[in-house]
Amino acid sequence: MFRSAVIGCGAVSKNHGKALKDNRYTRLEYCVDIIPERAQAFSETYGGKPLTDYRDLYGTGIDAVHVITPHNTHPQIVMDLLDHGFNVFCEKPLAITPNEAKQMIRKSEETGKLLGVCFQNRLNKATVEAKEILESGKYGKILSGMCLVTWNREGKYYSESPWRGKYSGEGGGCIINQSIHTLDLVDYLTSYCGGVKSLSGFDAKLRETDDYEVEDTAMALIRLECGANIVAFCTNCYLGSKVCDLELRLEHAVMTVRQSGLTIVEEDGNTIFHAAKVLTGEKSEWGVSHGLLIDEFYKSLQDGTPFVADCHTGLAAVSIVNAIQHSKGRVIRIER
Ligand SMILES: NC(=O)c1ccc[n+]([C@@H]2O[C@H](COP(=O)([O-])OP(=O)(O)OC[C@H]3O[C@@H](n4cnc5c(N)ncnc54)[C@H](O)[C@@H]3O)[C@@H](O)[C@H]2O)c1
Repeated sequence: MFRSAVIGCGAVSKNHGKALKDNRYTRLEYCVDIIPERAQAFSETYGGKPLTDYRDLYGTGIDAVHVITPHNTHPQIVMDLLDHGFNVFCEKPLAITPNEAKQMIRKSEETGKLLGVCFQNRLNKATVEAKEILESGKYGKILSGMCLVTWNREGKYYSESPWRGKYSGEGGGCIINQSIHTLDLVDYLTSYCGGVKSLSGFDAKLRETDDYEVEDTAMALIRLECGANIVAFCTNCYLGSKVCDLELRLEHAVMTVRQSGLTIVEEDGNTIFHAAKVLTGEKSEWGVSHGLLIDEFYKSLQDGTPFVADCHTGLAAVSIVNAIQHSKGRVIRIER
């Protein structure tokens, strides 16, 4: 049985708490938050001894630590943990900049410790099925695609956590925090034919509000190594839905990957729909796959098999985010 800890007991920590409570490979032993009441509340619900300084984990013999803190804190905390012999499961994004992400990856290589990144949507049922079908070549090559993310973030979302909405804390807005999951899927699902090569795009803060300073809307033309272009539109300004769709037009079908399932319209018009389990209510857009990915992380630790969201595969998403922010219409190559 692996022994684990979490650092950061805020909004999404409950997904980790639930997954760890029921996990067959690990036992949660510590929960850390600089706000003592948060660590205490997490401990009462999910277990673990509450702490306020993650450095108190040093010397405890813990095997793996979940880093669930603000974006700007990830590099320092993750590299400290790797240096002290822990395996790390880090919430997305690995870091705000590609350079920081590369340093973290290097540290994982030097220490020989596993560093995973929480892109749980890679294990959504629709993603897993789409990846298998794409790689089989059944419907031919990818010709073009569309990535559409329409969420809403305003008001309380920003006021309840001081790091959100600021470039210094979050490193951006809708691209780095919300749309990053679907942008990651663009690269992950197309990695069998080279993934994302370059992009040009624009981002802007379109709402008139003092809630945040970061961009709330972005668009990009994403060029894949295989030659196809994916057009992306991402916004946090739409009250009506929590869409995060990826449509891929193949030679012999159109495939749409959604939380609710995979739709394939074949060239003769035949439509196939494989439904997936969906949540409703607040934060339903986080989906159902945190538990699956956390299980895979510990399975990889146990078996020594490659982890589906290893840090090496988390760099492209950080590079894509950064490229959209800096492009201003120019073509930027993606680092990987
Ligand atoms: N995978 C997903 O679907 C998903 C969903 C939401 C958030 N996230 C990610 O999870 C991370 C946290 O987001 P959140 O919304 O839970 O934030 P949050 O602000 O609700 O919680 C962060 C917590 O970290 C604590 N903290 C800050 N610095 C700390 C430190 N040095 N040591 C210990 N605790 C510290 C804060 O006190 C706070 O309780 C972010 O990286 C975010 O992008 C991922």
